Amino acid sequence: MEIAKIAGKNGHENGALIKVKDLVKVYPTAANGVEALKGINLDVHEGEFLAIFGKSGAGKSTLINMITGIDSPDSGEVQIGGVSVHSMSDEELTRWRGRNLGVVYQFFQLLPTLTLIENITLAMDFCDTYQLAKRSERALQLLDQVGIREHAYKVPSKISGGQQQRVAIARALANDPDVIVADEPTGNLDSQTADDIYDLFSDLVSLGKTLVIVTHDQEIAERASRILEISDGRIISSRLSDTPSNGRSAGEAAPSPNLAPQRIHAAL
Ligand SMILES: Nc1ncnc2c1ncn2[C@@H]1O[C@H](COP(=O)(O)OP(=O)(O)O)[C@@H](O)[C@H]1O
Ligand SMILES: [Mg+2]
Repeated sequence: MEIAKIAGKNGHENGALIKVKDLVKVYPTAANGVEALKGINLDVHEGEFLAIFGKSGAGKSTLINMITGIDSPDSGEVQIGGVSVHSMSDEELTRWRGRNLGVVYQFFQLLPTLTLIENITLAMDFCDTYQLAKRSERALQLLDQVGIREHAYKVPSKISGGQQQRVAIARALANDPDVIVADEPTGNLDSQTADDIYDLFSDLVSLGKTLVIVTHDQEIAERASRILEISDGRIISSRLSDTPSNGRSAGEAAPSPNLAPQRIHAAL
């Protein structure tokens, strides 16, 4: 099966790469059900660095799981690059996600018995996007990009949590997706390590990747270019960040690459 790649800059209406329309999600419970999303509307533009911020239980993970297609809404729609995520079959969706979205989790979710390099080549094997002979070399380049090439042949338990999250980011980049989505990616890391991980995300934004990152930490959220606050299943505010932008907000031109993105470019 041909795996569709997200359409380029002009391939989606109003420049919005991700469009969330009237999204409602109710989790069935023994009582009346939990209304986790109560009608979410959201546009994310190509190249944006969006933080979704809110307290525990606000609906952040539910929203992210709708965007990645890991879970389905009760009503409403998510479009990414003009593709209606929930209209695909499970098989199409899995393959489409592998090619177009890089997903990063709080607890890294690396396969414990595989080496770091194998964790990354596996993601490429699954999508068949790069020639078999090129995959290991690309995985090494990605590990270099995130600063841990020297650990390539270790298993995840032999490196620190911050290093494991670097591997997870390298894995998310394996198939060169346009969109990176992360749910509390620094929730399990100390603040210095969290800062370093955000530097990596910022570098990716400088290269034109679109980032959507969930956090309950306001200080972390301020590092994005736009902050969307959700509470009790609703968006309660959306504002551009006060601090100098590490990424790009909607409509801004791409910043000229600095040294770090050049290093990343070389790896991609
Ligand atoms: N599988 C589930 N079954 C029932 N309720 C759930 C389930 N997952 C989440 N919820 C509820 O939905 C609401 C939103 O949860 P979640 O999206 O995980 O919030 P957040 O990620 O912001 O902490 C919470 O009230 C939570 O208890
Ligand atoms: Mg959550």
